[in-house]
Amino acid sequence: MSQRVAFITGSTSGIGEDTARYFAARDFTVVLNSVRSVAAGQALAAELGGFYVQGDVGVEGAAPRLIDEVLAHTGRLDVLVNNAGVTKVIAHPDLDAVTRDTWREIFEVNVFGTFELCRAALPALQEHGGAIVNVGSIAGLRQTGSSIPYAASKAALHHLTTLLAKVVGPSVRVNAVAPGLVDTPWTADWDVVRGFVEALAPLKRSGQPADISDVIYLLATNSYVTGQIIAIDGGLTLTV
Ligand SMILES: NC(=O)c1ccc[n+]([C@@H]2O[C@H](COP(=O)([O-])OP(=O)(O)OC[C@H]3O[C@@H](n4cnc5c(N)ncnc54)[C@H](OP(=O)(O)O)[C@@H]3O)[C@@H](O)[C@H]2O)c1
Repeated sequence: MSQRVAFITGSTSGIGEDTARYFAARDFTVVLNSVRSVAAGQALAAELGGFYVQGDVGVEGAAPRLIDEVLAHTGRLDVLVNNAGVTKVIAHPDLDAVTRDTWREIFEVNVFGTFELCRAALPALQEHGGAIVNVGSIAGLRQTGSSIPYAASKAALHHLTTLLAKVVGPSVRVNAVAPGLVDTPWTADWDVVRGFVEALAPLKRSGQPADISDVIYLLATNSYVTGQIIAIDGGLTLTV
C-alpha cells in the first residue's frame, strides 16, 4: 500500500472518531478500533474506506495482536494514535472510594496497554519515519480531573510520551495532546464542569472533537516536533 496508514484506538466515538474522519479526509488509510461498538466501527470503516480491528487495548497481549491485524490489512503503519482511555468519576477527597481495582482498570488501558501498543508498533513505524500521538489530558498537567487514578494515569502517559521520544528518534516521533473538557459522549452529562469551563477559560467554551483532531494531525505529520505535550483547553490551564 502506498497510501499512509493511521491506526487510531478507541475510534468509534468522540475524539477518536473525529480523528479518524480527519485523517481519512487527508489521504490516510485509517484503521479503527473499539471494544464494544463493533458494528459502529465496521460501518465507519466502510464509510471511510478503511478497516476495523476489535480489541480492548488494556488486555495483556492485545497490543501485538492488534498491530499484526492492522498490518495484515494494510501492510504498513505510519501513525499510531493512542486515544482509547477509561476513567471512573470519583471526587478527589473521597479516598475510600478508590480501590486497587480502580487503579488497575484505569492504568491497564491508559498506561500499560498504551505502552505496549507503542512498543508493538515501533518496527512498522520505523520503516517510514512514523509518529505516535498519545491522547493525554490536562488532568495530567494540573491537580484536576475525573478521579485521582485517572489524573495520575494521564500524568504517567505524558511522562511515558517524553521518555519514549528520547529513545525512538530519529526515525519515530512521539508527542501527546492534553485536551481540556471536550464535548463527547464521555462528557455528555458534565454540565457543571462545562459551566465552570465556560466561566473560567479565556476562550469561554468547551472543546469540540475537531479542536483536538486538528492538533493530533499536526503532531503526526510535522517532521521536527517530538517529546511535546500540547494542552488544548481554551486556556483553562492558565486559570487552574
Ligand atoms: N472528552 C473529554 O473531555 C476528554 C478530555 C481529556 C482527555 N480525553 C481523552 O480522550 C480520549 C477519548 O475520549 P472521548 O471523550 O472521545 O471518549 P468517548 O467518546 O467515550 O470514546 C471512547 C472510545 O474509546 C473506545 N474504548 C473505550 N475503552 C476502550 C479500550 N479499552 N480499548 C479500545 N477502545 C476503547 C470506545 O468504544 P467502546 O466503548 O465501544 O469500546 C470509544 O470508541 C480518552 O483517552 C480520554 O481520556 C477526553
